Amino acid sequence: MKKCLIFCAFLAVACTGAKEPLYKDATADIEDRIEDLVGRMTVEEKILQLNQYTLGTNTIEQNIGELVSEVPAEIGSLIYFGDEAVVRNAMQKRAMEDSRLGIPIIFGHDVIHGYITIFPIPLAQACSWNPELTRLGCEVAAQEAYSCGIDWTFSPMVDVARDPRWGRVMEGYGEDVYTNSVFCQAAIKGYQGDDMSQENRIAACLKHFAGYAASEAGMDYVYTEVSDQTLWDTYLPPFEAGIKAGAATLMSGFHNLSATPVAANRFLITEVLKNRWGHDGYVVSDWGSIKQLINQGMVETEKEAAETAFNAGNEMDMADQVYANNLKALLDEGKISMKQIDDAVSRVLRVKFRLGLFENPYVEEKPESERYLLPHSLEIAEKAAAESMVLLKNENAVLPIEKAKTIALIGPMADDQDEHRGNWCGRGRGEDVISILQGMEKEYKGKARIVHAEGCGFEGEDRSGFAEAVRVARSADVVVACLGHEAGWSGENHSRSTLEIPQIQEDLLAALKATGKPVVVLTASGRPLEMREVDEHADAILHIWHPGTCAGYAVAGLLSGRYNPSGKLAMTFPYTAGQIPIYYNRRPKARNEGWFQGLYEDITNDPMYPFGYGLSYSKFEYGPMTVSADKVSADGKLYAEVTVKNVSDRDGMETVHWYINDPYSKITRPVKELKFFEKKLVKAGESETFRFEIDPKRDLGFVNSKGEKYLDKGEYRIMVGDQTVSINVI
Ligand code: NOJ
Repeated sequence: MKKCLIFCAFLAVACTGAKEPLYKDATADIEDRIEDLVGRMTVEEKILQLNQYTLGTNTIEQNIGELVSEVPAEIGSLIYFGDEAVVRNAMQKRAMEDSRLGIPIIFGHDVIHGYITIFPIPLAQACSWNPELTRLGCEVAAQEAYSCGIDWTFSPMVDVARDPRWGRVMEGYGEDVYTNSVFCQAAIKGYQGDDMSQENRIAACLKHFAGYAASEAGMDYVYTEVSDQTLWDTYLPPFEAGIKAGAATLMSGFHNLSATPVAANRFLITEVLKNRWGHDGYVVSDWGSIKQLINQGMVETEKEAAETAFNAGNEMDMADQVYANNLKALLDEGKISMKQIDDAVSRVLRVKFRLGLFENPYVEEKPESERYLLPHSLEIAEKAAAESMVLLKNENAVLPIEKAKTIALIGPMADDQDEHRGNWCGRGRGEDVISILQGMEKEYKGKARIVHAEGCGFEGEDRSGFAEAVRVARSADVVVACLGHEAGWSGENHSRSTLEIPQIQEDLLAALKATGKPVVVLTASGRPLEMREVDEHADAILHIWHPGTCAGYAVAGLLSGRYNPSGKLAMTFPYTAGQIPIYYNRRPKARNEGWFQGLYEDITNDPMYPFGYGLSYSKFEYGPMTVSADKVSADGKLYAEVTVKNVSDRDGMETVHWYINDPYSKITRPVKELKFFEKKLVKAGESETFRFEIDPKRDLGFVNSKGEKYLDKGEYRIMVGDQTVSINVI
């Protein structure tokens, strides 16, 4: 289809003899096309390319024209709130035909974990330790979004997050640097493929550059205090990985980073991203972040805000219109230069050319049945959901439920569809979601009777359903309590001071436990939870996160044993919120022995469930770790291996996490750092060997507070399971 259009354009030129401008020549080099086009643009046209407005949701045919005519035909980008290609195509037609140069608009949208087919929230995806599923899921999301006219998603979010009170932990890949980097690269490949100009591909946007997750006290939009060392060793690496994977664009965060709000942070956006890492796409500000420089106390006027943000290196202004209103005057006053404007416009155009928008500005309007919820998409969504759920407890092998004649499903999540979508769920529709009840009825058809009672709502004081819930529980052989958080309790602007499940749900659980029946608890949430009370009343706990469209099938498959749990936590579950920030790779402390250890006096110092924790129905035994050599030069290579045996009678997938530790270093390093992971199927009774290929500079080296990478000589420790082996860099 795309090739055909290029050929037709070629024929048209050949037949009429008219000479098309170079920028319209699809066969010309992109850099030459950019230069040609920028050379033809007026300053006003250039400035409009640097703006992003919104385009509303109106798809009523007779009103489309009105909606579209409100937007200038020369606008660079729109956040598209429509759900069909029709409005978008109408607007694109206006850009192509009513503007002097016919520059296509790039339409953006938050496609975070699916568009119509919803995948588990990103934090859950990380718990699958299967980045290939993330790549496939993002590929599906791209295909569905593209079919509605979206060219660009504001995803992935790779903010390493260590404070679960912060609602946005659901949007990223957890607390670990390496995990975020790997999943970031998978997501970018999924959205963009190898060539963004292909049909069904969209541009990615790494966000929120950088350090946003350090939001003080887990609140949103507040100050973030990040040392240079932490910026370089924790927050920046996933972004660098994303740049290496070819991320087309980035979004600068709207937080205040160590006293310089990111929207104004020239060091980060220009020095690091462009000069050091060589990114040649563009940076979009976050919604309102340029104007918010005033609230943050950096500048007094919108004009100063525009000047500061533009000079920092933000090419596109999301939703503020401060660039549209001020850049011309700033140029006339010499506060910004034409060279800067040309560079910014070139960057925006580069992404548009790479997306093939000049050749293919329109999207084919296809019926829903050809683009949404396709069997292949649902298959990936179910697999991703099943692999991301984490079995936290399974006493007396209550799970899987194989012999029960009657299973009671109780709780506010049991028959719910909406909440499984999680926050930032694109255009995912509740009615497309398989509820746990629906999934269980299908799974156990002809094998067990499913009985159901809601018991209570997600919160509140109404306990009138408890008696019925207890009656239903008593009639069953096993009780499955479906509890947790609503989707809207996490995400942007959804901070919480505790991570508990509301009291009413915990009381319901206690009442169910009092029946004496075995109780399996399913916990749903967009963040780590405090599980003390749940643990007290549960024989088994499966944390299901917000699993997306195929929630019910994935849950039922895990409960029945059709799937074997293989998820492991990508973020620590604290014992109480008082332990926050808590994460696995803290730096070592001064005192480890005796009474003076600086421990909490009132609670345990251990988390409830640590990073990397997760059970399986199989039992795995790790053999001794071996290393190929105990000395290596900086440029040498060595590998470590471990053989894992499945000593159970059930096939299962095991993820092996490889950590390193540098015990003595001038810049002190964390107690352990994840450097590689691998997930494999290990058949019942069989063994698999896992190998970590160590590249000393990449895997043992570190970065200083200026971002300079180095590798010290001396001892390093390689860790897997509970084993540690020392090697030396010589
Ligand atoms: C603000 C959020 O911080 C950002 O993540 C999102 O992409 C934009 N709004 C656009 O919706």
